[in-house]
Amino acid sequence: MVFVADPMYILGIETSCDETAAAVVQNGTDILSSMVSSQVEVHHRYGGVVPELASRKHIEAIVPVVTEAINDSGLEAKQIDAIAATRGPGLVGALLVGYSFAKAYAYTIGVPLIGVNHLEGHINSVFLEPGPPPFPFVALLASGGHTGIYHVTSHTAIELMGQTRDDAAGEAFDKVSKLLGLGYPGGSVIDKLSKEGNPTKIAFTRPYLNKSDFDFSFSGIKTAVSLYVGRHPSDYKNRVADIAAGFQEAVVEVLAYKVINAARKKGCEHIAVVGGVAANSGLRHQVRLQAERQGLEVHIPSIQLCGDNAAMIAAAGYHYLNAGIRGKLSDDVFSKSK
Ligand code: KG4
Ligand code: ZN
Repeated sequence: MVFVADPMYILGIETSCDETAAAVVQNGTDILSSMVSSQVEVHHRYGGVVPELASRKHIEAIVPVVTEAINDSGLEAKQIDAIAATRGPGLVGALLVGYSFAKAYAYTIGVPLIGVNHLEGHINSVFLEPGPPPFPFVALLASGGHTGIYHVTSHTAIELMGQTRDDAAGEAFDKVSKLLGLGYPGGSVIDKLSKEGNPTKIAFTRPYLNKSDFDFSFSGIKTAVSLYVGRHPSDYKNRVADIAAGFQEAVVEVLAYKVINAARKKGCEHIAVVGGVAANSGLRHQVRLQAERQGLEVHIPSIQLCGDNAAMIAAAGYHYLNAGIRGKLSDDVFSKSK
C-alpha cells in the first residue's frame, strides 16, 4: 500500500511594507489563492512609502484580504494547518499589523504560528513555480529594501555572501525615478522608459564591479545621475529615456556580473533571481544571457511573484514548519535582519 501524506495548507500573511497580502499555499508549492492589496495610490503623491499611512492602510485591509484569500482557496478556515506571517525585516508598524493579526488568528483557530523572515520568503518564491532549482544554488535578492547574494543549501539554510553597503537596487531605481520626475514606484517606469532610450549614450559609473567580493553600492550611480541632471538643467528632459537606459544598464551589469561570479565561486550550476527588481526586463535578459554562456541555469519567478506577496511567505512557512521552527505569541517583529 502506498502511503499518501495529507496535504498541508498554510495561510501566508505579508505586511512588511506597502502591500497587504494573504495567500493559501499547499505543501509549499501550489498556490490555491493569492491576494495582494497595493497601497501605491496612497503613497504615490508623497514620492515614497509613508510608514504611518502604511500601518493604517494595513489595518483597514487585513481582514478583507485574509477573508478573500481563504474564500478564494476553496477551503474553510478550519482546514488551515498553520499561519505564516512576515516577522521582519520591514517597517515595524506595518509588520505589527500582520504579525499581531496572525498571532490572534492562529491562537483562535488553534494552529501553529510561524514567523517568517521576509528575505527568506523572497528566496522561497522560486519553489512556487515548475522546475525549481535543486540545492545548493546561489540567489540574487534585489528589492526596494535589500540587495544581497546568498548561498542556499536548504529552504532554511541561507548564507549571506555579500550585500549592498548603502542603497538597495530597487531604492536606487525609486530615487532616480523621483529625481527625473517620473514618480513612485520607480522601477517599472524606468524599465519601460529604458526601452525607448540608448544605454550607451550616457555611461554611468559601475561601483564595486571590479571588486572580487559580493558587496554592492548603488548610491554612487544615483549620485552620478543627479550630477548629470544638475549639469544639464535645461535639456536633460529631452534625454530622460537615455538617462534611464544608461542607469538601468549600469545597475543590471553589476547585479548580473556578481551573481554569475558567486555561482562560479560556490560551484553552483543553478541561480535564482528574486525580489521586486527581478521583474526588471533588462536584468532578466542579462542574467539569462550571461548564465547561458557559462552553462548555468537560471530561475526567475513570474512577475507577480517577484514583488511582495504572501504566497512566498506561506511557502517559506511550510519549510520552517517541517524544520520544527515555530513562532511564539511573545515574539516581537524586527525591522532589520540580525
Ligand atoms: O520586493 P519588493 O516588492 O518590496 C521590497 O521587499 O522592497 O520590491 C520593490 C522594489 C521597488 O523599489 C521597485 O521600484 C522595484 O522593486 N521594482 C523594479 C521593477 N519593478 C519593481 N525595479 C526595476 N525594474 C522593475 N521592472
Ligand atoms: Zn520584498
